[in-house]
Amino acid sequence: MSLETLHQDLDQAEQAALASVEQAGDSAAMDRLRPEVMGKKSPIRQLMKMLGGLSADERPEAGRVINEAQARVEAAFAAKDAAMKEAALNQRLETERIDVTLPGAFPLPLGALHPLTQTLNEIVRIFTAMGYDTATGPEVETEHYNFDALNFAPNHPARDSHDSFYLPGGGLLRTHTSPVQIRYMQNHKPPIQIIAPGRTFRVDDVDATHSPVFHQVEGLLVDENVSLAHLNGTLTAFARAMFGSDLATRFRASYFPFVEPGAEMDVQCWECGGKGTGCRVCKSSGWVEILGAGLVHPNVLKSVGLDPQKVSGFAFGMGVERIAMLRYGISSIRNFYENDVRFLRQFA
Ligand code: PHE
Repeated sequence: MSLETLHQDLDQAEQAALASVEQAGDSAAMDRLRPEVMGKKSPIRQLMKMLGGLSADERPEAGRVINEAQARVEAAFAAKDAAMKEAALNQRLETERIDVTLPGAFPLPLGALHPLTQTLNEIVRIFTAMGYDTATGPEVETEHYNFDALNFAPNHPARDSHDSFYLPGGGLLRTHTSPVQIRYMQNHKPPIQIIAPGRTFRVDDVDATHSPVFHQVEGLLVDENVSLAHLNGTLTAFARAMFGSDLATRFRASYFPFVEPGAEMDVQCWECGGKGTGCRVCKSSGWVEILGAGLVHPNVLKSVGLDPQKVSGFAFGMGVERIAMLRYGISSIRNFYENDVRFLRQFA
């Protein structure tokens, strides 16, 4: 064995190793190649065995060239391996690119305000623009606030239309928002100008326009020299803002114990357009009552310590459901509570 033969074998082995590195086409091929070109048993390292056949002064030189050849092959392998990994990564980055500006795959469905809430908001908006503050009161009331302080005599038939749900211990679910009038006047001095929206309850059979749970907005204005003309002007302005001037309104004399004189305001029926024949919404009358109103009864003012000779006021109470039905042309109050999305979606 001569140094020259070793050089030839080494050269061949290196060329072969470099060629197979060169030819490896994918990372699987590289993985197969790795033990062969990099391992202890690589053909180049195998040549170390030949050192024994060389003379002592030839050995260091021979060992060095073998190591250098192995190092070149390993460097070539490592370079190719790195290049292939980088190319694979770039390709992934290219194909798997995430466009963070695209909308999500499962957009969250956006809810919408219930038509009653929208209507209530609109009522509040209109009165707020006229200078009214908003007040609230409890849904569980006492007979005192729901009836007595509002001038309902203990056995007056007016209580019949306000049949309520009574709770153990004497409370009842309020049948209207009028108790808020009393509560507010107990804590505030005139001038008073409030609306009081809220939920109200009555023992009523469900039909196209009645529900045992419904909503009202109360109004109360107390000041000096308040007259029916102020009431009329205020409610007419409200009706115009709410419905436009397409539907006619009318006032009818009516009775509520806590006002004198009392009135009801009707709006032309939205279902039959006021014709009234065989219409279940207006019960063939052509008109639908939307609110009660009147001048605050002197007894009510007295019950909260106000002097009816010095101050006067008007009050009104309207049903939010009826106003919403009128506004949207809805023919049954049941639609509001069934939560059928096909109905609700129309108001989104
Ligand atoms: N509270 C009355 C009702 O629910 C409505 C009303 C309010 C009437 C204010 C007059 C004044 O029937």
